[in-house]
This record gives sequence, structure tokens and C-alpha cells, in this order.
Amino acid sequence: MSHNGEMSARSEGFSNPSADQSRLAEYRQVSTESPEPDVIRYAAELLDSGALVAFPTETVYGLGARASNPKAISDVFLAKGRPLTDPLILHVARVEQVHELVSEFPEDAAELAARFWPGPLTLVLPRHPDVLDLITASQATVAVRIPSHPVAQALLLETGFAVAAPSANRFGRISPSSAAHVVSELAGQYDLLLDGGPTTLGVESTVVDLSGPVPKLLRPGGVTLEELSEVLGEITYADRVITAETTNAPAPGQFLRHYSPLTPLLLVEGDESLTQQILQALGDKGVTALSVEIPQDQIEAARNLYQLLREADATDAKLLLVRPTQSAGIGRAVNDRLFRAAQGRSLKDCSEESVRRALAIALAELP
Ligand code: TXA
Ligand code: MG
Repeated sequence: MSHNGEMSARSEGFSNPSADQSRLAEYRQVSTESPEPDVIRYAAELLDSGALVAFPTETVYGLGARASNPKAISDVFLAKGRPLTDPLILHVARVEQVHELVSEFPEDAAELAARFWPGPLTLVLPRHPDVLDLITASQATVAVRIPSHPVAQALLLETGFAVAAPSANRFGRISPSSAAHVVSELAGQYDLLLDGGPTTLGVESTVVDLSGPVPKLLRPGGVTLEELSEVLGEITYADRVITAETTNAPAPGQFLRHYSPLTPLLLVEGDESLTQQILQALGDKGVTALSVEIPQDQIEAARNLYQLLREADATDAKLLLVRPTQSAGIGRAVNDRLFRAAQGRSLKDCSEESVRRALAIALAELP
């Protein structure tokens, strides 16, 4: 334990009861194009020994732990403050490794793997009995993916074992799309942070459940519903059947209050002028709100989403207003995260009633 760590823990007079003060908290930059072998080897050794390593993937940064080490896995839950009922995704380098983690690898899985791996797609499959209950939350299924980021690839090739890696943020908060975000979320809660620069996609992987009779989209992400429908023919999303022709899905309702900034957020379902009217009306009542502008381009919207929300969160605004993007392609993932960040709450007009609601939300959640 460092002297400084000891001092600050004492002088603050309180600390996160789950915080592990003995973590190495090392930071290394690593080249995205050609990850330095000595850095990758060091990270792999740490994982092998049960340490926690935060690393970049093409979606967001993950907090990695060796999948076969129960202590390391439970440390991940502690570091994030994550409930044990929320299962983790296993990351591997090669498809052959997936076969050791699952008890079935159906035709659909093989087709999706061939088309989208390595990449931002997570498959939920019947688990192999050897996978730890901690990882699957004792469910009959396990989530697996092969990331494409060169640093993640190099690390997973070097370890040769499966690495469980949830997004490297505290539970319920916005995922980290840069190493700086990881530091602000989990300072001191990892042994090593590999900084491979900002992530390219910016939102988490798509999660598809293939364990039932019909494929189910559990979380929209980097691989779009349209792309999935092309391969699968049929897939359900939030209990609706989606085919290549009908890719208009409703907003999902599970896990509300996920991907949240600390400042309350409301969706604005109207044009820019409605946002301005609401800002004005709130301002008249003495409440500073902020409009968070999501880029028009959907790729840019996804890539910048979490950075924009973090910046907005850091201002002294008491309420964030965001207009959703178009619900198609990767825009569906953006809107899903916004919907959850807003806990499903939106404003459709600037009526007295709407302004009263917005005020209540802004004021009720003041620290
Ligand atoms: O892009 C990503 O997937 C990132 C990077 C680091 O790979 N990881 C990530 O992990 O987002 P996490 O733990 O933040 O989100 C995993 C999601 C959760 O919503 C979890 O409930 C779901 O996957 N999940 C994991 N195992 C599952 C299972 N067996 N059945 C259903 N959902 C599962
Ligand atoms: Mg997460």
C-alpha cells in the first residue's frame, strides 16, 4: 500500500467499504496499431495471477479478470459495486475457445460468429458446466464475445484463457470510452490500466440470446439489428418479432436506470425549438438545464455519446435535455442508452404540466 493511499484513506475519514486499497493501480500507454509485446505480456501475467486489468475494446473499456479464478471474479463485482445477480461477459481470442465455455454452439451462432467475430457482438449460449456460477449469476447460459480491438486481441491471445470483463465503470454509471473515464470511475480499483486511446465504437456490444427457440436481442449495440436480421431471418427485440422487413422496434424497458449520468436526464421528443422553449421555461424558474447535442451522424453519435454525457454531467446544470437520434442502425443503441439514462422519462411539449414535471425531476434529485 502506498503511503499516499494510506494518508488519503485516513484523512478522508471514510472510504468505499468495497475499495481494495492494495491494488497496484498502474497505468501504461499501449499502441493501438501494434501493442508492445512486453506490456501485453505483463498484463497477461497480472491476469494470470488473479489481478484486475482494465483494457480497451472496440466498444468500451473493460475491467478484466481471469474467468477461472473465483477470487478475481468476485473482486470485479466489488470494484464495480455490481450486484452478483448481473452476469459477466467472457472474452476470448478464438472461436475454438468459445466451444470450451458453452455446452451447445448452434448453427445460428456459427453463422453470426463467421460474420461478426471478432467484433462488437456478444452471444448468450447454454453454458458449459465448468463456467463459474459467479460469472453466469447461476443461470443456465453464458455470454461470450471475441473483441476486435488490437489490444484486446493481443492480450487474449497472450493469456490463452477466457477473461471476464464488464465495462470498467461503477455499476449503473456510464461506460468508459477512454482511459481517463476509467480513472474517474474506478481510480485505484484495478491493478493495471492499459491506455489504448479512445474506443472507436463508443457503445457496448450487441447482446443476442441464442439459448431459446427464437434469437432474442437483449441489448442493441455495435452490430445492428438490421445486420442481425440479415443473418438470422427472425429475431425478437423487447418481445416483438423483428424480420429484415420490420426492423422498427419499440424502446426496451428492462434495466432502467442504467448508463446514467449523475445529473437527471430527460428526453425531448420534439424539434430543437421545443428544447429551447423548455430551457427558457426552466431558466425562468431559476433552474439551469443544459441541452446535450448528439451528433447527426449516427457513427459519431455513438462514438461521442458517453464523452458528451460526462462533460454535461460535469457542469453545474441541474437537468440534462437530450433529443434522441434516429432509431435505426447503431442509432438504436444510442437511443437505448439515452432512454435508460432518462429512466424512460421524456417531454413531448412545453405545457405547464411538462415544465412542472421537469422542475420536480431536476429539484428532487439535487444532491
Ligand atoms: O461491449 C461490451 O460488451 C463491454 C466490453 C468491455 O466487452 N462489456 C460490457 O459488459 O458491456 P457489461 O458487464 O457492462 O454488460 C454485460 C451485459 C449485461 O447487461 C448483462 O446482464 C448481460 O450482458 N449478460 C451477461 N451474461 C448474460 C447472460 N448469461 N444472459 C443474459 N444477459 C447476460
Ligand atoms: Mg456495463
